[in-house]
Amino acid sequence: MFSDRTNWKLTRNRLTEALEEVRAGGARVLDLTISNPTRAGLRYGEGLIMQSLASPHAMDYDPQPKGLASARTAVADYYRTQHAIHSLDAERVILTTSTSEGYSFVFRLLCNPGDELLVPKPSYPLFEFLADLQDVKLVPYPLIYDHGWQMDFPSLQKAVTERARGVVVVHPNNPTGSYVHSEEQEPLNEFCREHELALIADEVFLDYAHDGAQQRSFAGNQDVLTFTLSGVSKISALPQMKVAWIVTSGPDGEVEAAQARLEVIADTYLSMNAPIQWATPVLLEQRKSIQRQLLDRVLKNLAELDRQLAMQKTCQRLSVEGGWYAVLRVPVTQTDEELAVDLLRKKFVLVHPGHFYDFPSDGFLVLSLIARESDFAEGAQAVLARVA
Ligand SMILES: Cc1ncc(COP(=O)(O)O)c(C=O)c1O
Repeated sequence: MFSDRTNWKLTRNRLTEALEEVRAGGARVLDLTISNPTRAGLRYGEGLIMQSLASPHAMDYDPQPKGLASARTAVADYYRTQHAIHSLDAERVILTTSTSEGYSFVFRLLCNPGDELLVPKPSYPLFEFLADLQDVKLVPYPLIYDHGWQMDFPSLQKAVTERARGVVVVHPNNPTGSYVHSEEQEPLNEFCREHELALIADEVFLDYAHDGAQQRSFAGNQDVLTFTLSGVSKISALPQMKVAWIVTSGPDGEVEAAQARLEVIADTYLSMNAPIQWATPVLLEQRKSIQRQLLDRVLKNLAELDRQLAMQKTCQRLSVEGGWYAVLRVPVTQTDEELAVDLLRKKFVLVHPGHFYDFPSDGFLVLSLIARESDFAEGAQAVLARVA
């Protein structure tokens, strides 16, 4: 009765089962996988946010496939003020309800069934589902770790086939926290040009560079057809508000052709609601306070982790440049999933095993750096005590 594309293995994994059992037993679990910022004890401008959702303009239905001009202008302003991209035309912005929806639109635009997209590995597990739903095949290209994560261009060359339509970069990547470095951007453009591929840049964590320096956004990339995806889910830590976007850049002819088609895809759904679009300038403005708080938290947790790591020799932290996560390298005495289950049952600490993100081998745990500082310190201590 159902399509093959929904033939997923829907049984719970061992970690989820263990979590339910431990919680049912009444234990307090220290959650070092937290990615929901609304439950991380941040101070939001609640009054302003709620007020912004009550604009009387929202009583008018003005169906705009790309989204309302005022909201798209606020997005262009974000790129101008935060990323010094002065030439970004709001007409090249298309609003979506989430980055995931943005991915779906772009996959639909670029790929026939069975076409391929090159995606980094390790990375974010949602890609698999997005690709299944759009009948697209993902071909991983490894990031290699050698004093920091880097793109491996020989592997990229090996991975590309006639069916490839685009390359996805996550800038910075989740969970490795590595940016596409400035010296990698030109070879990446060259690679896309050579194979006639589009570039899809996921920049949801772009603003969370740990050294505070702004990293270059792909929204300013003019060399090849580029789709830059982001949204307020991470930029303003408001995932429940459902405002995201696709910025299209590159050679004019290609951008215009892509925009015209994307507009039809967006028009088919018209998924943005009016109150949220009128609120978008205020939601984006919230980033200034939220990013300060989150970066402060992330840096303090990272410093605490390093302080604890300095007292032992068994585990190391991989280098990280940005984002909300840290990767811990641990000795391999069991699978990462077994280790995570063990940490949960014996120490009541929840961490993600590396295999969840497709790390090349066992021996990696992923810790969220946006956990409350006291939880993080206690959780990290429990993890190190168990692993050591
Ligand atoms: C790298 C990356 N891209 C996209 C998303 C999803 O963003 P959105 O909530 O806008 O769909 C996430 C969520 O964690 C993410 O980590």
